Amino acid sequence: MTSALFSAYKINQLELANRIVVAPMCQYSANDGVPSPWHTTHLGMLANSGASLVVVEATGVERRGRITHGCTGIYSDECEDAFARVIAHCKRIGTAKFGIQLAHAGRKASSARPWEGGLGLKPNEDPWQTIAPSAIAPGAAWQAPRAMDEADMAEVREAFVDAAKRSLRAGFESIELHMAHGYLMHSFVSPISNKRNDAYGGSLEGRMRFPLEVLRAVRAVVPKGMPLGARISSTDWMEGGLTGDDSVAWVAAMKDAGLDFVDISSGGVTAEVRTPATPGYNVPIAAQIRRETGIPTRVVGLIATAQQAEDIVAQGKADMIALGRAMLEDPHWAWMAAKQLGAEVKRPNQYLRAAPKMWPGAAYRGNAA
Ligand SMILES: Cc1cc2nc3c(=O)[nH]c(=O)nc-3n(C[C@H](O)[C@H](O)[C@H](O)COP(=O)(O)O)c2cc1C
Repeated sequence: MTSALFSAYKINQLELANRIVVAPMCQYSANDGVPSPWHTTHLGMLANSGASLVVVEATGVERRGRITHGCTGIYSDECEDAFARVIAHCKRIGTAKFGIQLAHAGRKASSARPWEGGLGLKPNEDPWQTIAPSAIAPGAAWQAPRAMDEADMAEVREAFVDAAKRSLRAGFESIELHMAHGYLMHSFVSPISNKRNDAYGGSLEGRMRFPLEVLRAVRAVVPKGMPLGARISSTDWMEGGLTGDDSVAWVAAMKDAGLDFVDISSGGVTAEVRTPATPGYNVPIAAQIRRETGIPTRVVGLIATAQQAEDIVAQGKADMIALGRAMLEDPHWAWMAAKQLGAEVKRPNQYLRAAPKMWPGAAYRGNAA
């Protein structure tokens, strides 16, 4: 049996051993943006998950662009040096390649960690002024952001460029721009959060303008052969918000601007709206975007079983599968999936004695300790 999920894939010039990707997941465990020993442990574990690519969590391109006080950043030499050490370690001990998600939290910045409530920081919790396309809070528990002027936009654009340069120096092999979940870029594109009446608001064309400027500026500094992608919220799941058809136009414009792949997520534009909790809820729009734009497509969202992931790839609904919670639940998810689908996955030498080929009852011989 040949498995589609375990077939090799190439995004731009980056060769991937299979279609399984670890989704970016905030760990809220950094100090002023600097990754900590927790990241070395967490990412080191995922380096041997069997996924071909691990995407490091939403990492702020500037200090005020972090979601929480514990979010990673890549805006200082300390951040860059620490990431370089973590990534070098992961590459030394693991089989996966590493990408980073570059992010600006916009009006959803200055929040508490999830286990501390996840709402906007209170006056005694060292909050900071947030920025956004329009001065509209994401929910009742957040302060109103300041509407950005063109000088702010130039600053944020440069911060993305600097962060991309730092990411390259730190050893990342793929860059994903966070344009989803109600954070700054998505909040420009969505009509729910962008009420501007200048050239950066209004029609979809106006709302896409700033994120496209950021994308073009980043593309200009990322080597031609290196994958540059974006994670998007393909629908706002609310009346008057972004739809799948809008997202086709949005992704097509990004493809024209040099985007190599898209990662399809959804939701997050306001605190009130909930994303569906049905298996593979983003798959239909991902399939539409892949079909109508032809861009290499990754999909995420309640994909949990090996057969489900296999079918999505085999049926041409997406090229890659990103897994979030399933990988936290079982960091060797891909080992189990390979066993179920009759495929091979690279394991570290130290763990080879647990490989299926050694079953059943493989005898310990010679100098087996
Ligand atoms: C602990 C945790 C942290 C997350 N952090 C991020 C993040 O940094 N960036 C992002 O785009 N999505 C983030 N997400 C969303 C996941 O990447 C993923 O899209 C979502 O969990 C749905 O996929 P799943 O059903 O496979 O978990 C996070 C999810 C979890 C559970």
